[in-house]
Amino acid sequence: MTTQELYNVSCQVVRPAVDVAQPAAEGRLVGLPAPAIEGDDRPDLVQERRTIRVLITRSGLGRQEFAVQATDPVTVLDLLREIQRSHDASLAFRYSCRVAMCGTCAVRVDGRSALACSTVVPPDCDTIEVAPLAGLPVVRDLIVDSRPFWEQWARVTPWFVPAEGVEERITAGSAEEELVEGALGCISCGACYSTCEIAQHGNDYLGPAALNRALALVADPRDGAGEERLRIVGGRGGVDRCHYVQACTSACPVGLDPARSIVQLRRMRLRGHA
Ligand code: SF4
Ligand code: FES
Repeated sequence: MTTQELYNVSCQVVRPAVDVAQPAAEGRLVGLPAPAIEGDDRPDLVQERRTIRVLITRSGLGRQEFAVQATDPVTVLDLLREIQRSHDASLAFRYSCRVAMCGTCAVRVDGRSALACSTVVPPDCDTIEVAPLAGLPVVRDLIVDSRPFWEQWARVTPWFVPAEGVEERITAGSAEEELVEGALGCISCGACYSTCEIAQHGNDYLGPAALNRALALVADPRDGAGEERLRIVGGRGGVDRCHYVQACTSACPVGLDPARSIVQLRRMRLRGHA
């Protein structure tokens, strides 16, 4: 994978093999401690620092520029933390897990929705732009109010409702398994919702994440609320609002395909399947 692909597809955070780094002469960092590797296989422990220009859209301050010292590999979240630590403690952003699991660090990087913690800045990239997610009210700096996202999410009854008397299991390799498994794993980051033009214009559109969640439950034969969910996704702001641009699928940092889930829901509704 090229560095550009690495950057565009949102990768796993790659941590330096040697963790603690201490300043040394001439602006270099020397990793400690030295691993017990002999001969030519011994890795180069000297890591060059470089300066990355970070442009951040902030509340009431417009676009601010910071020159941040970094050592590769570096993520967007690493840069934001360094800015908060060494340049401006008032910079507001949100994160928690740092391993692409909690979904709280979603921002726009160079105009695209992405997780700050898993977006690696390519070694040949010296300027990046970071802005809050689009389509959601800004609370402060890079923090958005995600209530519109959660309100739509709640409309599809996003939890499992056990069907009475059903002891069915999902068979490995079955069509149900393929549908359910393909839609699971959403971390509720809102990247797809933020990227979707229809969701951005309000109009009660459920949005890709909620519809993807609905499919994971509707396709599960053990769930007892499928009919009700199909009625909801076929109603106000439901699947018929989607124009199938697939921006949601391109934005998803964990590789889900909400656009495909919407198509599946449309098919199920037409077939009266629950
Ligand atoms: S479907 Fe993907 S982009 Fe959308 S909220 Fe879930 S994880 Fe985020
Ligand atoms: S900090 Fe949890 S997903 Fe980025």
